[in-house]
Amino acid sequence: MGKVYKIAVVNGDGIGAEIVPAGVSVLKAVAKKHGFNLDLNELSWGAGHYLKHGEFMPEDGIEQMKTYDAIYFGAVGLPEVDDTLPARDYTFKVRGKLKQYVNYRPVKLFPGIDSPLRDKTQKDIDFVVVRENNEGEFVQNGQIMHAEEAGGVATDTSVFTRFGIERIAHYSFKLARKRRSKVTNVTKSNTLIHSLAYWDRVIAEVAEQYPDVEYNTMYIDNASASFVLRPEVFDVILTTNLFGDILSDLGGAIMGSLGLGGSGNINPEKDFPSMFEPIHGSAPDIAGQNIANPIGQIWSAAIMLDHLGETEAAKDIMKGIEHTTSKGNLTKDLKGNASTSDVANSVVNYIETSELVVA
Ligand code: NAI
Ligand code: MG
Repeated sequence: MGKVYKIAVVNGDGIGAEIVPAGVSVLKAVAKKHGFNLDLNELSWGAGHYLKHGEFMPEDGIEQMKTYDAIYFGAVGLPEVDDTLPARDYTFKVRGKLKQYVNYRPVKLFPGIDSPLRDKTQKDIDFVVVRENNEGEFVQNGQIMHAEEAGGVATDTSVFTRFGIERIAHYSFKLARKRRSKVTNVTKSNTLIHSLAYWDRVIAEVAEQYPDVEYNTMYIDNASASFVLRPEVFDVILTTNLFGDILSDLGGAIMGSLGLGGSGNINPEKDFPSMFEPIHGSAPDIAGQNIANPIGQIWSAAIMLDHLGETEAAKDIMKGIEHTTSKGNLTKDLKGNASTSDVANSVVNYIETSELVVA
C-alpha cells in the first residue's frame, strides 16, 4: 500500500461537471501506475448549491476542507446567479481562509498547438505568472453609497501589507532559482504611487537577498504588450492579484486557448490544503456539450501532485498532455474535433501504456 491522499473534489458549475471528472480519470490512472492511493470525496458546492440551499457551501465548509490534503476544483458561477457572489462566497473565501497566498499560473506552448503569436515557438513561451492571491485589489474592502442618487459613490480600497508582499516575493525568487533565475515584478508604481510604490520597495529589499536571481520591474501596460510581442523575456512574473488575474487570461490566449491553463492556489508552508483549478471560469456558454477543453483541468492535477510530492506522477501527466496535443487530438477551441472525453482518454491511455520511469 502506497501513500493515501485525501482529496476534496469540487466540480462547481458549468463545464466543471465535465472537465473535473475528465481530470479525475487521469488522476486515477496515474495513481494506479505510480503506486499511491487517492481518497476522493465529491463536494457539490458552488452556484448550483446556492440555487438549492441559498449558500455556495455549508457554514462549516472551510472547516470541512481543512481535513483534506488538497482540493481539486473546476470553477463556480452561473448566469442565473448574482455574479458578485462566486468570488466572495467561494473562490476568494477558500483562497483567503486557507492562506493560499500564491496563485501559481504557468504559461507554456504545448507541441502541436499553434500560438496565435506568429513566429513564436515553444522556447519563446515558457514562463510562470505568480499572482499575489490574498490581498491587493481584491480584498473587497469598500462600499456603494447613495447608489440611486446624483451623489452616488463607490469605493474599493486595495490593501498591501509588508508581510503579504514579502512572502509572495520570497516564493517568487525561490521559484526562479528552480527555473531560469529571473524575476520580473509587473507593477504600476508610476501611478499607484502609494500602494505599488511600497510593493516595489519591499520587493526590491527581498531581491537583495537573492543576488543570484536577475530582478527587473515592468509596468503592467508594457507587460501586456510584451506578452504578445516578446514573451521570451519572461521567466517568473511576480504581480498583484488584479494584474495577475488579467495577465493569466492573456497567458492562456497566447498558449492558444483559455482552456489550456492550469493553476495552483498554494499555501507553501502546507499549514492548510491548497486548491488546484484551471485559470478559466465555468464557461456556461459551452457547458453540457462535451466540447470543453479539459487540459487546464488536467494540468492542474499535475500541479497538485507536484505539490503533494508525487513529482514523477506529475511529470507523467505532463507527458500525456504533450503526447495528446502533438498528435493533434484537440478540442473545438483549438480548431480540432475531439471531445472533452476524447482528450482525457488520450491522456489516460498514454499513462496506462507508457513505461513507468522511476527516477
Ligand atoms: P470563462 O473563463 O468561463 O469563459 C470565457 C470564454 O472562454 C468563454 O467563451 C468560454 O467558452 C471559453 N472557455 C473557458 N474555458 C474553456 C475551456 N475549458 N474550453 C473551451 N473554452 C473555454 O469566463 P466568463 O465567461 O467571464 O465567466 C463565466 C462564469 O465563470 C462567471 O460566472 C464567472 O464569474 C465565473 N468565473 C469563475 C472563476 C472561478 O471559479 N475561479 C474564474 C473566472 C470566472
Ligand atoms: Mg480570472
